[in-house]
Amino acid sequence: MSSWKEVTALDDIPVLGSRVYRTDHQEIAVFRTRDDSVFALHNSCPHEGGVLSEGIVHGHKVTCPLHNWVINLEDGEAQGPDEGRAACFEVQVRKRIIYINL
Ligand code: FES
Repeated sequence: MSSWKEVTALDDIPVLGSRVYRTDHQEIAVFRTRDDSVFALHNSCPHEGGVLSEGIVHGHKVTCPLHNWVINLEDGEAQGPDEGRAACFEVQVRKRIIYINL
């Protein structure tokens, strides 16, 4: 079942930046990449819960600020030898407004 929620305007997130969207149950980090792609992940690193929205965005990846794990924004998977996955959410951008499917 789809549950699309309006998050914010694309232009309210800086390029290579993020915005946190809070629900009653979770925090979701919404990232904007240099090519204006938008991705949404649970705002918690699969390693030890680092705040991914405070990480460094590069390409379609984010580096966790705590211990530098690299997380793929497309599927939430940790890269390289690290293993784990952050939950990710479907995103749509319509008329430069971002929606995520909870
Ligand atoms: S908590 Fe993210 S790399 Fe350790």
